[in-house]
Amino acid sequence: MGTTHQVATPQYDYGVIKQFTVMTVIWGIVGMAVGVLIASQLAWPALNFDLPWLTYSRLRPLHTNAVIFAFGGCALMATSFYVVQRTCQTTLFAPGLAKFVFWGWQLVILLAAISLPMGWTSGKEYAELEWPIDILIAVVWVAYAVVFFGTIAKRTTSHIYVANWFYGAFIITVALLHIVNSMAIPVSPTKSYSIYAGARDAMIQWWYGHNAVGFFLTAGFLGMMYYFVPKQAGRPVYSYRLSIVHFWALISVYMWAGPHHLHYTALPDWAQSIGMVFSLVLLAPSWGGMINGIMTLSGAWEKLRDDPVIRFLIVALSFYGMSTFEGPMMSIKTVNALSHYTDWTIGHVHSGALGWVAMISIGSIYALTPWLYDKKTMHSVSLVNTHFWLATIGTVLYIASMWVAGISQGLMWRAVNPEDGSLTYTFVEALKATYPYYIVRAAGGLVFLSGMFLMAYNVFKTMTTPATSTHTAAQPA
Ligand code: HEM
Ligand code: HEM
Repeated sequence: MGTTHQVATPQYDYGVIKQFTVMTVIWGIVGMAVGVLIASQLAWPALNFDLPWLTYSRLRPLHTNAVIFAFGGCALMATSFYVVQRTCQTTLFAPGLAKFVFWGWQLVILLAAISLPMGWTSGKEYAELEWPIDILIAVVWVAYAVVFFGTIAKRTTSHIYVANWFYGAFIITVALLHIVNSMAIPVSPTKSYSIYAGARDAMIQWWYGHNAVGFFLTAGFLGMMYYFVPKQAGRPVYSYRLSIVHFWALISVYMWAGPHHLHYTALPDWAQSIGMVFSLVLLAPSWGGMINGIMTLSGAWEKLRDDPVIRFLIVALSFYGMSTFEGPMMSIKTVNALSHYTDWTIGHVHSGALGWVAMISIGSIYALTPWLYDKKTMHSVSLVNTHFWLATIGTVLYIASMWVAGISQGLMWRAVNPEDGSLTYTFVEALKATYPYYIVRAAGGLVFLSGMFLMAYNVFKTMTTPATSTHTAAQPA
């Protein structure tokens, strides 16, 4: 990608990348195991064992924090430190600070794992952690930004490859979102109150929440996609020009879509409508990116049959396309009147979370691990293939059951008797109708989780078996 002719390949810093890679797998298992537990609690409530630390209300934020920030965060940090070095053909800026990023981030995760089951929470979704941990997050994140942008600044190539633009936007935006939304007045080390109030607080929270989706769960993973899809396919990105348009369109539109989380609330109506319009426009850049990724394989479609790693990456893009079609539809006010508060939202979330975020991360880690450990391929390619099917079946079971559950709930809640306008169903009747789908969802989660155990074994074996000499690790950047 660069124009300079390298005399010698730099000795890239892989230590911190290896650490983040291992923790991605471990936190993936932990976060998804908690997901399976809470999914099971919704089907069999006795599974909270009457212990306060195991109640659904405390474990749900533990699940979301663990999968998004621990699993997703470690995957993003591992791959961004790899991609920025390879594409800038230079070593990490301030490697000591990179080590601090690793240990600091693990400390944040540990503190979350202790404080959330204790019930210490700010009450803001995806920003539940209390103020001392928030300060630590801000410090670690700034260190992450210094390492990442410092590496870009000392690059030996003239061009900054597009994957770095996506990673860079994710790093800057998450810092901004976190600092603004977490502003609070502490009353004790474990309790604080937001400095915002009322509808303004709700708007700031969903400006944060939606852009956490847009930048943490989307832009960062698109950075991953723009490196690992072409690399694994052995072909250049389908259209580099489209990738630039994709970048600028995506980051400028995402910022304004947050109000779609607050339809029919005290938020001014015009703000809700702006959220809806920007969400509809968002379909275009999202699909532009998806098509660019999938078409990178054009002319080499047979790789889909031969290489399960490519299959993970391409199916991830298909789920990305699906959830970014569904999202704009759900942002239309009349559709949202049916979907909001129902399990349809949960289905949408997990078609993005399992289908896109988890699958692109898993595929990228399977591509990356042999390169890091100087191996030709993963220890067992057939286990990667088994994992692929477990992940796909698990995701489909999860999202299909939640669609049926959600739409049933929406229709049952709004049904009225024509004679007197009274409700046709009680809330409990709608809940009972949902019950079988909760069992299917828990089963789907378990199937997905079982694949993660195969991954842990496979990654461990790839790390520990002796190195081969005919490796493909010496990647031209
Ligand atoms: C084994 C896999 C998983 C299972 C069984 C699972 C299960 C669950 C359950 C039961 C809920 C609560 C739903 C409710 O309150 O009605 C939930 C919420 C959530 N999960 Fe997962 N999950 C899994 C994987 C993931 C992954 C990998 C991610 C992200 C990368 C994720 C992100 C979320 C988010 C963001 C929510 C909150 C949704 C909302 O508030 O609308 N989950 N999950
Ligand atoms: C064009 C892209 C997208 C649009 C316009 C969009 C739109 C929406 C809408 C309208 C809702 C329901 C809000 C509500 O009724 O409360 C929602 C919820 C959600 N979406 Fe998306 N979505 C998009 C893509 C994605 C992707 C790729 C993910 C990745 C994981 C994702 C994650 C979520 C989460 C976590 C929630 C639940 C938030 C909560 O209530 O806790 N979305 N989205």
